[in-house]
Amino acid sequence: MTTAAVLTAAGSGTRLGHRLPKGLVELAGVPLVVRAARGLERAGCLSAVVVTVPPHEVAGFRALFVGGRVPGTRLPAVVVPGGATRQASVAAGVAALDDDVDVVLVHDAARCLTPSELVRRVEAAVREGHRAVVPALPVSDTVKQVGAPDASGAEPVRATLDRAVLRAVQTPQGFDRELLEAAHAAGASRAGDETLAATDDAGLVEALGETVWVVPGHERAMKITTPRDLALARLLLDEPA
Ligand code: C5P
Repeated sequence: MTTAAVLTAAGSGTRLGHRLPKGLVELAGVPLVVRAARGLERAGCLSAVVVTVPPHEVAGFRALFVGGRVPGTRLPAVVVPGGATRQASVAAGVAALDDDVDVVLVHDAARCLTPSELVRRVEAAVREGHRAVVPALPVSDTVKQVGAPDASGAEPVRATLDRAVLRAVQTPQGFDRELLEAAHAAGASRAGDETLAATDDAGLVEALGETVWVVPGHERAMKITTPRDLALARLLLDEPA
């Protein structure tokens, strides 16, 4: 049995201020999706990567994964059309996995600087028997829950959450394949609507009533969403990992 990854790259580049899909945006000359796939390969624990991409951009992404491999490596890579939401994209990726895959890592292409050690930590925790594993960091800001805004747009605070028990969750998230498939099947009715869809896969597992386990995350597993994040990623490239 083997471990494979679903690499989600079907998002748009709108918040990055790009017309290109985010996965094709370059960081120091290398598209984010290629950097993320190479990072997964370096972990050394994967048999394949399934990359979910915008349906109208399949050809452009396949051109990057020449010969069905992660560029510069021997790791097989399959490019499949994603869906309207991240949840739908992951479901499409899981459906394309080979039969011998029993552990799945779901990773955002936008977290393209994720260290290999973090990928291995998540995979090892699943292999040790934790069927759903997420990497996460402590929260340094005080986080407040708010209600609906008034006419001016100001929002009333409803609660101050205890930050000692809060974690900011990253990817890759690791799952026993059967559990991940069951979670997506149970949540399938939410997948088509961005306001209802799960923003991570662990949320679907939680909805099944199964325990999700947290392992330490890493600052370099940050998600590139805005132009500022891209600038920060450029700085991190110059820093020893
Ligand atoms: O939009 P957000 O930054 O939360 O997206 C997280 C990840 O999910 C990104 O890597 C993005 O490419 C991916 N995604 C996807 N399919 C969508 C929307 C987002 O694969 N429909």
